[in-house]
Amino acid sequence: MTGSPNGSMQTFLSEFQKDLAQGLLSPRVWNDPDLHQAELERIFTRCWVFVGHVSEIPTPGDYVLRYIGEDQFIMVRDEQGEIQLLFNSCMHRGSPVCRAEKGNASHFRCPYHGWIYKNSGDWNGAPQRARAYRKLDAAAWGLRKAPHVDTYQGLIFACLDPEAVSLREYLGDACWYLDVLFGLSEQGTSVAGDPHRWIVPSNWKSGADNFVGDAYHVQSLHQSLLEIDVLKGLGQDNSGGSFHIAVEGGHGFIGGRRSLPEPWGIMDYPPEVFSTFDLDRLDPSQRKFLEDGYGMFGFTIFPNLSFFQSLPNSDPNEPPRVFTLLRQWQPKGPEKFELWNWSVQWNSAPDEYNQAAYTAGVGAFGPSGIFEQDDTVAWAGGPPTGRSVFARQTMKLNYQMGMDGMGDYAIRTDWMGPGEVSTSPYGDMNQRRWWQRWSDQLMS
Ligand code: FES
Ligand code: FE
Repeated sequence: MTGSPNGSMQTFLSEFQKDLAQGLLSPRVWNDPDLHQAELERIFTRCWVFVGHVSEIPTPGDYVLRYIGEDQFIMVRDEQGEIQLLFNSCMHRGSPVCRAEKGNASHFRCPYHGWIYKNSGDWNGAPQRARAYRKLDAAAWGLRKAPHVDTYQGLIFACLDPEAVSLREYLGDACWYLDVLFGLSEQGTSVAGDPHRWIVPSNWKSGADNFVGDAYHVQSLHQSLLEIDVLKGLGQDNSGGSFHIAVEGGHGFIGGRRSLPEPWGIMDYPPEVFSTFDLDRLDPSQRKFLEDGYGMFGFTIFPNLSFFQSLPNSDPNEPPRVFTLLRQWQPKGPEKFELWNWSVQWNSAPDEYNQAAYTAGVGAFGPSGIFEQDDTVAWAGGPPTGRSVFARQTMKLNYQMGMDGMGDYAIRTDWMGPGEVSTSPYGDMNQRRWWQRWSDQLMS
């Protein structure tokens, strides 16, 4: 692990935190190569990072290629059933040992000189071993691997820092909300196939920043969807009754009121789905959240995992369907990221419903999703502003919405769950807290 940030970085970050306290943000964050390198060293090698869903690798030998920061790993279920995250780089000359995106293998054989590794990562042999490597200490030459891999509600996270806190501690109070979203049925959830992926000409933090709390953009950026009735049911201020939930650690949720009449039930699920849920799996306060008509539209778990659950009506010509997406913002240099998008479904729900929800989700978000096209075009504005000398000399971006005296944004005192919860969506609390965590992490 590298030492503390150098002097000029430290100065920038101290300045950044003073600005943030006033709701101001330097545009430098959207493109800076030094900050990007610092993120790789201080965020992606230290935080718990989402790498996939348990349903992607159900049986021993199943594997998929995944990323932490810009490093490629093999996420594999080994012969003992344990999930391993193996760095996809041969210990001999550094060639990737696995070239396929997914598959099933008991071993990985490097194509260059033929070294072989078990799917646990252990070194397992080399051509001509007796003549070439008789004295090689096999135990020392296994693939490098993430020291920590753990799951929560079917979501797999990995951490490259041997000293890290547990995943449960890292997620903290976010667990209360993840239980509500993913813990309603003993049969759990699965993802529908492989994630869609595509390149966006923007910085990865744009996605995290948007999904952690930006309900404010819907009425303007997605206005064309309001005009064609795709966002029907959002209410008078086009916010869907949304609000913010901020928990420790920079994780944030966009809560909302569910609005469909009976027979639709909790989180706007139809009877054939919500009848498969077992609310006794939740504690009384979590049940109250659902029974009072609350749900969640979005979240970001720091650093780069986000979530979206459908707005009240995603297609005016179809009955409403709740679609659920996991979204990840994978950095590819400071001015580009790869967007990964998984559709999540309940294993207990009828196939027909899951298929319809999948189709609705792909229509909204994905390479040709009608929401996605709006969002990614707007986010592409970040890097050109960040690299502008003029912008760096004259601009600070505004993150003041909802600060003291700025509007009618307030913190609720009567909330049944953990975290700080706002009375309206017209604030940047969640975003400011995400950026506070980002800067704390870079300074640590
Ligand atoms: Fe893998 Fe030589 S680089 S065996
Ligand atoms: Fe959007």
